Amino acid sequence: MNKKIAVISGDGIGPEIVTEAVKVLTRIEEAFGHHFEYDFLLAGGSAFDQTGLPLPSETLQHCKEADSVLLGAVGGPKWDGLEKHLRPERALLDLRSALGLYANIRPVKLMSALRSASPLKSAILEKGLDLVVVRELIGGLYFGERKTYVNSKGETEAQDLLVYSESEIRRIAETAFRLAMQRRKIVTSVDKANVLDSSRLWRRIMHQVKEKYPEVKYNDMLVDNCAMQLIHDPSQFDVIVTENLFGDILSDEASMLTGSIGMIPSMSTGSEGPGLYEPIHGSAPDIAGQNIANPVATILSAAMMLRFAFDMPRESQIIETAVEKVLGKGYATADIHIEGKTQVSCSHMGDLICEEITVLAKA
Ligand code: IPM
Ligand code: MG
Repeated sequence: MNKKIAVISGDGIGPEIVTEAVKVLTRIEEAFGHHFEYDFLLAGGSAFDQTGLPLPSETLQHCKEADSVLLGAVGGPKWDGLEKHLRPERALLDLRSALGLYANIRPVKLMSALRSASPLKSAILEKGLDLVVVRELIGGLYFGERKTYVNSKGETEAQDLLVYSESEIRRIAETAFRLAMQRRKIVTSVDKANVLDSSRLWRRIMHQVKEKYPEVKYNDMLVDNCAMQLIHDPSQFDVIVTENLFGDILSDEASMLTGSIGMIPSMSTGSEGPGLYEPIHGSAPDIAGQNIANPVATILSAAMMLRFAFDMPRESQIIETAVEKVLGKGYATADIHIEGKTQVSCSHMGDLICEEITVLAKA
């Protein structure tokens, strides 16, 4: 099969982890006779440095024309002083918004090899940890009007507006319920309806949509309680659906339960056009350029791309199995390294996963 993949390495550890994901995709091409065309594009701080813009129009155009987009990470302290419309993060937000990617799917699953890397007690882990955060991605505080101004008392004040419309809530609710129907059929909708109007509307629409899915066990949960329940007993969750900022925060928290945020992939989709596949972690500027980052989240994002964008379930499964095998043999990058494991670099981890892919594809 021929596919065109727009590739944005971005900033910080972005280039290192994306190199490993492309290495893995190339190994899949060889093993299965596919042809992937990689279109390497600029976005984020490095794009600003080279073009003066975080998201050059050429990048957006090429992404729209691709079958799928693979992204590493953007941002870093180097660009902290820039005006808000020039910040690297703006590239990511504009890309998500311009491609209409309202649904961000973040699967959080404990791999057995990482049990001891998780900060949770084994008694809690034994009950299971396999959930998906469905994060609304192009609404809420991230996209509401924001401004900094001087108020009537002469003091500087800042504000960010949190807006959600019925249709925005309804479409993400549908995504969550449809996903739950393919899983354990439990949806937890997370909001702050005891305080926020936007959350009360969120809850009302969720309740309307749940009527269409009588098989799904549904519950509402306040976001503060959810933050606690994730640590107390994550086994209660199957699909968590929530608005943009809550999803950003809760998915980082949930990811850590699996041992490291460096393990969690994501996919963002809209109603049409290419999806965006990226790890949920950031650009980790503190460890950039040292070849010690964990490439697994990006490699698993590429696996999600094969499964959901290209309808290649076998190829996708082989990548996931290869990752589990390598970790099962005791290899670990610095973030998941504990006593008794063999610490490997970012590129070595990519090589080991490729070797397993070759073995598994022949089997
Ligand atoms: C994420 C990241 C981004 C977000 C940042 C880099 C803007 O934290 O994908 O979770 O907040 O969405
Ligand atoms: Mg985040």
